[in-house]
Amino acid sequence: MPQNTTKIKKCLFPAAGYGTRFLPATKAIPKEMLPILTKPLLQYGVEEALGAGVGNMAIVTGRGKRAVEDHFDISYELEHQIKGTSKEHYLTEIRAVITKCTFSYTRQIEMKGLGHAILCGEPIIGYEPFAVILADDLCDNDKGESVLAQMVKLYEKYQCSIVAVEEIPPEDSNKYGVIAGKEEEEGIFRVTDMVEKPEPKDAPSNLAIIGRYILTPDIFDIIRETKPGKGGEIQITDALLAQAKQGKVIAYKFKGKRFDCGSVDGFVEATNYFYNKSKA
Ligand code: G1P
Repeated sequence: MPQNTTKIKKCLFPAAGYGTRFLPATKAIPKEMLPILTKPLLQYGVEEALGAGVGNMAIVTGRGKRAVEDHFDISYELEHQIKGTSKEHYLTEIRAVITKCTFSYTRQIEMKGLGHAILCGEPIIGYEPFAVILADDLCDNDKGESVLAQMVKLYEKYQCSIVAVEEIPPEDSNKYGVIAGKEEEEGIFRVTDMVEKPEPKDAPSNLAIIGRYILTPDIFDIIRETKPGKGGEIQITDALLAQAKQGKVIAYKFKGKRFDCGSVDGFVEATNYFYNKSKA
């Protein structure tokens, strides 16, 4: 089967992290379940994937994450309690998600980095191109298609790995994977270099990777060969660099907004944004 010509059908969600920046809230609750208004972060990601035509969710969890599986399942007791009452509509959105998607889970046993988490998803993904959403990067585009939908379209044209990027202030480079590339079309770069969390003086540009990827399945073999990098972890950025060296990675300056819900500031900003949107 040709590896890069298939449609994107699966989306991988790395969701094994400890969420230390949100302690004590994340002591017993997975950080992916923290809500922006009434909806958990992970559900926003799942809905983005579904809206992009990607209906099979591959969720890489870890210890203490059972709430994630329960969330994407029917709660009979709850259904029974609120059936026919004025509260029933609160479940409409999550019911729709459960009906339209499939959910498969695997566990990352040891926290060895994002590249490693993605490799843990290989048995669920198989040998086909797939999307990756980092749920704590919450994206919204109120003027059109979601970020993942934009990328899925782009994949149809380029048939190679794609990372979403945005411009960042230079002093923030050490929080992100940063790319260098040649602009081929407006906002679309052929990546020539990528560095995980460089100090500002070493950053190859001000274009930072955010948590949306489309990866071709050869990435799994590459990750297997990738040595631990920044922070002693196996980095997806380093694995992607091997593809980039063959001219097989595109960076896409997406249309829309992105909130870093892995930080308290970003989380509050997202909350205000979605609150104002809900009242508009
Ligand atoms: C990860 C990636 C990094 C990327 C970021 C986007 O870092 O390693 O390249 O820029 O996600 O949010 P993390 O935020 O998990 O430390």
